[in-house]
Amino acid sequence: MREKLEQLERRIAESELGGGADRLKSQHAKGKLSARERLDLLLDDGSFVEFDRFVVHRSDDFGLADQKIYGDGVVTGYGRIDGRLVYVFSQDFTVFGGSLSETFAEKICKIMDLAVRNGAPVIGLNDSGGARIQEGVLSLGGYADIFLRNTLASGVIPQISAILGPCAGGAVYSPAITDFTYMVRGSSYMFVTGPNVVKTVTHEDVTMEHLGGADTHSRTSGVAHFAFDSEPACLEAIRQLLGFIPSNNVDDPPRGPATDPPDRRDEQLLDVVADNPNKPYDMHEVIRRVIDDGFFYEVQSEYGANILCGFAHLGGYSIGIVANQPAVLAGVLDINASLKAARFIRFCDAFNIPIVTFEDVPGFLPGVSQEHGGIIKHGAKLLYAYCEATVPKLTVITRKAYGGAYDVMSSKHIRGDYNVAWPTAEIAVMGPKGAVEILFRKEIGDSTDPERATDTKIEEYRQKFAHPYVAASRGFVDDIIDPRDTRPRLIDALATLHSKRDRNPPKKHGNIPL
Ligand code: HXC
Repeated sequence: MREKLEQLERRIAESELGGGADRLKSQHAKGKLSARERLDLLLDDGSFVEFDRFVVHRSDDFGLADQKIYGDGVVTGYGRIDGRLVYVFSQDFTVFGGSLSETFAEKICKIMDLAVRNGAPVIGLNDSGGARIQEGVLSLGGYADIFLRNTLASGVIPQISAILGPCAGGAVYSPAITDFTYMVRGSSYMFVTGPNVVKTVTHEDVTMEHLGGADTHSRTSGVAHFAFDSEPACLEAIRQLLGFIPSNNVDDPPRGPATDPPDRRDEQLLDVVADNPNKPYDMHEVIRRVIDDGFFYEVQSEYGANILCGFAHLGGYSIGIVANQPAVLAGVLDINASLKAARFIRFCDAFNIPIVTFEDVPGFLPGVSQEHGGIIKHGAKLLYAYCEATVPKLTVITRKAYGGAYDVMSSKHIRGDYNVAWPTAEIAVMGPKGAVEILFRKEIGDSTDPERATDTKIEEYRQKFAHPYVAASRGFVDDIIDPRDTRPRLIDALATLHSKRDRNPPKKHGNIPL
């Protein structure tokens, strides 16, 4: 027995070496951690249990017959984050550049199947040169097996991707289907084809960083949700995310530490919105003053920054926040903002996370580029996402709720459960200036003093519409509240909605305007 045990220990030790000391050194020299070091940082101490450490590939072509490495380039298994079960895979760039073989894919599929069956999130740490070129179609088949599982698991268990090295070709499409993608500046890249292919096909000279680095994907393309300066910071952020989301679509989200008093009023909320309706303010300020301990876990903070999305706890309840941001483009809804918020809302709805909307929106962004870019269909995604969501939906209108954007932003008409306005709210088809220019163009044109006539009409319109009382008289908002009471009022409403049950009509699936 002892001899056999020693043999097992030798094999285990060999399996931990991956592609060998030299390649590990080169990995470290690039500022990257090894596949196993990453898992150590991601998971609770000593909680990792490995699967399939002795699996090797089954290829003989291109000299692969004598290059069989235990694990075949991916470390898989399960572990715990703050005591909660998660399934993980960590691609090992030291083994054939982390490229995906048939057996590599089988290992990932195995833990994905277990995660779905046991109702636990999957976290993938990606560092891969894409399809293992020597394996040809076997590798492509392996990718497709993973994509299918990603799709079937979508909305059933949370799926999280960290990109911690190059991710080329097929390696990008699995992360793209998952719920959240994390990247690291200076070492992680995502592209369908790299700079060399781009140069050949389009004659463009582009660096890896510019083509598919963390800043590119977190600011410009919106492919990534988070960008960090280091791998440890990235992995710690994934651990934090788990504090807001449930393990699966039938579990409740985890409760936060209820250290912030639920009846806390906030005097400063009286002064956030200026008397001048055109003066910008930072909606972060409102959010931080309302939520527990001011901790807002913001998603895609640098993409579509005219809308804010993120998680928080409120009275201990986990919530998803969607908020117009008057400090950026006056909080207008454009293509990027619509896409960002629609996807976030659908995640919250799939995973039983109530949505709290803070609204100050002048409307949809006009312009040729927005119209030609499809603002109609992209804006419709946001509308669709809010309409179909059956989780508790709470809305606070802090200032403007104009036009179609009033309807879209979780209005009462689309099943908002608790909609309140601050006294500073202006709920109307459009702002006073725009309305007067349309309604009284002729009258103002004919007057002897057009400027004065305009001012008079604007004031008249203001008196009639630039407040929340018409909406309140119809029951389109449930109440007009003192801003200082926002936190206690929302927490109380969340408590009443904890047992909410609502369903959409049975169907195979809807047809969101893609
Ligand atoms: C097999 C690979 C590999 C691959 C890298 N390696 N990519 N082996 N298949 N796809 C091996 C290298 O031969 C090398 O082996 C080791 O991994 C490290 O690679 P380097 O090139 O030395 O590293 P680096 O300079 O850091 O460059 C990393 C890289 C580059 C940018 C990822 O290797 C690269 O461009 N690889 C190919 C990317 C690609 O085109 N993949 C196929 C995409 S098509 P040694 O033995 O020297 O250490 C695809 C189709 C799927 O994925 C579609 C599904 C929808």
